[in-house]
Order: sequence, then structure tokens, then C-alpha cells
Amino acid sequence: MKDIRFGIIGCGLMGREFASAAARWKHLLGMEARPIITGVSDVNQSAMDWFEAPFFTTNYLELLERSDIDAVYVAVPHNLHKQIYCDVIRSGKHLLAEKPFGIDLAAAIRIVECIEQHPAVIVRCSGEFPFFPGAQRIAQMVEKGTFGTILEVRAGFCHSSDLDTSKPINWKRQVATCGEYGCMGDLGLHVVHLPIRFGFGFRNVRAILSNIVPERPSPKGGMATCDTWDNAVLTCESSQGFPMILETKRISPGDMNTWYIRIIGTHNSAEFSTQYPKTLRTMPYEKGQCQAWKSEDVGYTSAYPTITGSIFEFGFSDAILQMWASFVDELAGNEPKFQCATPKEALQSHRIFTAALESQRTSQVVSLS
Ligand SMILES: NC(=O)c1ccc[n+]([C@@H]2O[C@H](COP(=O)([O-])OP(=O)(O)OC[C@H]3O[C@@H](n4cnc5c(N)ncnc54)[C@H](O)[C@@H]3O)[C@@H](O)[C@H]2O)c1
Repeated sequence: MKDIRFGIIGCGLMGREFASAAARWKHLLGMEARPIITGVSDVNQSAMDWFEAPFFTTNYLELLERSDIDAVYVAVPHNLHKQIYCDVIRSGKHLLAEKPFGIDLAAAIRIVECIEQHPAVIVRCSGEFPFFPGAQRIAQMVEKGTFGTILEVRAGFCHSSDLDTSKPINWKRQVATCGEYGCMGDLGLHVVHLPIRFGFGFRNVRAILSNIVPERPSPKGGMATCDTWDNAVLTCESSQGFPMILETKRISPGDMNTWYIRIIGTHNSAEFSTQYPKTLRTMPYEKGQCQAWKSEDVGYTSAYPTITGSIFEFGFSDAILQMWASFVDELAGNEPKFQCATPKEALQSHRIFTAALESQRTSQVVSLS
């Protein structure tokens, strides 16, 4: 088993998810490599208390100088992506970056330029939802071309904790740190990731963006401006001509981290939602036969095999583990069973969200060349 020595920059919600996935690497079967957390960095000393590693620093540049670190995971606020990602790439260490991969299009372009200047460095972007077994099955169906002519795609990522207007403000709800994309920067790559991977090009977009809660309680006392978009609905025309209706919502009553994709075709249709994580719904159609959705329990049939029996359930932390298996597998020199989002895919997501902002400003359909 090859050890890949990892540093973590940003020890909040997602930094802990990676450390947890690394700690249960034995869950995976047949891996050629494993991640060893060798150093962690956070500007907030107490955020690092939970972690176990030989090296801790509040200055991430010290982590990048270390020769005992091969790769880095960065999970920090969006306004820091460009600087920190480029510093990691320039240090020659491989990088699993977080979405949205730069606070805006200009930042994403700069990161991609930096990658092009350092071709030996492998850079991928986090996005775990396609690793749910139901989503994997849909990916296989697209690859096999079972849908016939695709008529429509719907995909979304919705939650509702922001319905509570007394929820205090945080960096994800302010343009300066989250970016002008708002909910699209937070949730959007998860939604467009599979449509982009499937080659459903984006010809144009008409977006309706909503800022529903304009201020929230500040942890410092009083109210603070909450200037990011809460909800976004994008109607896009694919290069094949079919409509794609994509939604990212922080205020979607009844939803809690619901990620879904639905593809309707002339020969087959399919739908998967994390709301029903075991269930894949499909509707194969043959001339003269009835049109009826069928429901199938997909179980724990992951891209990377694990000790968990296939009859059991799959969840968020399993998807994170699978995503990490893919990245580590790629670092070990293998072709991953399902590749994490690439920088090119992340850049394409920026072009879509930037066009969506323009569409909102102008109330027009905006072309994407
Ligand atoms: N893939 C997913 O499902 C998913 C889910 C949530 C967030 N994210 C993404 O992960 C990233 C981080 O989000 P989070 O929810 O973990 O945020 P968080 O606020 O929980 O954690 C961010 C951490 O970064 C630290 N930090 C800030 N500046 C730093 C610096 N200069 N050096 C080192 N550490 C620094 C903060 O102190 C904090 O501990 C964002 O890009 C976000 O969009 C991804």
C-alpha cells in the first residue's frame, strides 16, 4: 500500500470530513494507496484541536514548504481560493480543491492558468454527489446511450435551514467571502457537474435569482447585511437543444441537502434524489408497452468496493469516502473508476453562473459560446 502524505488547509466542516474519510480508509477494499494526514493548517488555532497529525501551523505557507507532504486538500472560504490554490500548485503538491474553484470567473481562469503552468500537478475539484450509487447508475445509462433522444434534464440541490430568519449570518451568506454567485457558488457545481460530464453543452441560460432574506443576526450583535442570492432557478438550452432546468436553493421548505437529477428520454427516463438515497427510478419505454416508472433499491453498490454489504444503505460520508478514493487512486497513477470534477469542468460551471448573473441583471437570455 502506497502512502500519499496529505496536508489539510482549512479545518472547518469539510476539512474534518476528509480527515474522517482518511481515518476509515480500511473501509475500502483493493486500494493501492492511502492518504496519511501529515500536516494541518488553519488560521484559527482551536479549529485544529480535533485533528491528529504530526504538524500543525496557523500559516499554510509553512505546510507547503514541507517535503513530507505530497498533496493538499484546501477547504477555505471562496475569497481565498485563488491565492491558496495557486500557492499549492506552485509548491508542486497535488491539490483537491473545493468548489466553486475561485470566488468568480476571473479567479477560476487564473487558477486554471496556474495549473497549465504546472502540468505535473494533479488538480481536481470536490463534488461527492455523483458517487451515490443511484447517480452512478444514471452515469452508466448515459454512457450506454439508453435514453434515446433526451427530452429534458432537471437537476438541483436544495436545503431549507435558511428558512429560519434568526439563523446567524456566516461567510457563506456575504458577497465579500462567498462571492456574487451566492447559492450558485455554494451549491451550483454539485448541480451542473453531471450535465457537464455527460457532454450536455450549455448554449444559453435564463436565470431568476432571489435574495429572500436581506439581513441576518450578526454574531457580533445587531443585524448584518445578507447580500448573497438565496435561490437560483436556471433554464438552460443544451447544445443538443433540450431544456435543462437547474435549481440551487438555500430556502426550499421541506428539503434538507436534497441533491437530485432527472433525465427524460424517448427510450428511457431516470431519476435519483438523495431524499430517497436507496431508490433509483427508471422508465424504460418500448413501442406498444405501458409507460410506468419502476423503483429499484440500489443498495451499497459503490464505484470503489468496500467492506459494506451491497444490501446496506449509502450516505453522505460514504459519498465523501468514494470521492477521496477516486482522487487517491488517480494520484497512485490509476485511471479512476469515476473521475472527480476536473478544473475544466469547474471553469465551465463558472461560465454558466457568470452568464446567470448577467441574465438576472438584464432579464435576458444570455448566450454561452
Ligand atoms: N463538497 C461539499 O459538499 C462542501 C460542503 C460544504 C462546503 N464546501 C466547500 O468547502 C470550502 C470550505 O467550506 P466549509 O464549510 O468547510 O467552511 P468552514 O467555515 O466550516 O471552514 C473553513 C475553515 O477555513 C479556515 N481558514 C480561513 N482562512 C484560512 C487560511 N488563510 N488558512 C487556513 N485556514 C483558513 C477557517 O478558520 C475555517 O476553519 C468552501 O469552498 C465550500 O464551498 C464543500
